Amino acid sequence: MSDSAFLSLEKLTLAYGDTVAVKDLDLSIQKGELVAFLGPSGCGKTTTMRSIAGLLKPKSGRIRLEGADITHVSANKRSVGLVFQSYALFPHLTVFENVAFGLRLKGISGAELEVRVVSGLNSVGLTKFANRKPAELSGGQQQRVALARSMVMEPKVLLLDEPLSNLDARLRLEMRTELQRVQRDTGVTMIFVTHDQGEALSLADRIVVMLNGAIEQIGTPEDIYNSPASAFVADFVGFENIFPIENGRLRAGNGPIELAGPLPHDAAGLAWRPRMLTLGSGPFQGTVRGASFSGSAREYLLDTPFGTLKAEVDAALPAHCAGAALAFDLPIEKAAKLKRFN
Ligand SMILES: Nc1ncnc2c1ncn2[C@@H]1O[C@H](COP(=O)(O)OP(=O)(O)OP(=O)(O)O)[C@@H](O)[C@H]1O
Ligand SMILES: [Mg+2]
Repeated sequence: MSDSAFLSLEKLTLAYGDTVAVKDLDLSIQKGELVAFLGPSGCGKTTTMRSIAGLLKPKSGRIRLEGADITHVSANKRSVGLVFQSYALFPHLTVFENVAFGLRLKGISGAELEVRVVSGLNSVGLTKFANRKPAELSGGQQQRVALARSMVMEPKVLLLDEPLSNLDARLRLEMRTELQRVQRDTGVTMIFVTHDQGEALSLADRIVVMLNGAIEQIGTPEDIYNSPASAFVADFVGFENIFPIENGRLRAGNGPIELAGPLPHDAAGLAWRPRMLTLGSGPFQGTVRGASFSGSAREYLLDTPFGTLKAEVDAALPAHCAGAALAFDLPIEKAAKLKRFN
């Protein structure tokens, strides 16, 4: 692990009883970074967050914050805030008191308490709701209270477990912008969990893709989107046409695919987004099984000698009906080269 890391997880193994949920996880995060954990249900995102927050004792490995080993430091002494997947506000307390709760526990009162709570509410745009109870707020407003409640504690690291999951599309977008603004203004180091790859791509400085309690790939949104390291990541970020390379040949389910040029030596597979297929010309023949129109694009399911492929073209191009025969190509130069095939 790099010494300059602000937060580092070193060979972290986390378990519930005998069930290992996260194994040998290594991750280092810089100060002020906004990192997204992305991965399917059950892959260990919440578990990892809970251990960083001090709510789950690691089976083995270490957690360091600003160089100090905090593996065995209790949750309330870590300066790590966690906004839970279910944000659990106190229903009988007002918005103001919900946000003030942690500060009061720390012995802060009077004018300082007032100033910090008001500024916290202000930063999430809820000043005028200070006297309401949680039940009198929308889901999105409640999530913002939970965010303010964590932020007023001025944590060194803020962990957000699916903070936008309960919001409708419009509010989600608003809250995304809000999160980015808060992070820019305060410079707090943030890790957030999401199921939504669009959210991870648009918000994060770096994305950690997890699978089965381990990291599949760490990279910038551009890395993850353009250069997925494995078949799993490729599938997760929307490459629909994914094939392994075996014995120097690209393989479909029912046999080899003979591409025009040489395959890259160092790849375990190739993947194409629907947009990357050439449609209407090329050495291969397919039959349109289905077509769908999405406004700006047309998507085709093609029955081909290599199985069913998905292609997408600009909607301005002439449409093809089911049953139409179409030439196509899988251009090697456009394919993402997968380091691993899983
Ligand atoms: N309290 C618990 N006791 C036993 N096993 C648990 C417990 N909490 C989680 N697990 C298991 O640990 C694994 C990781 O769970 P975790 O909650 O970290 O997943 P997640 O990535 O956050 O998933 P989701 O996206 O559904 O929230 C899962 O297999 C889960 O069943
Ligand atoms: Mg979870």
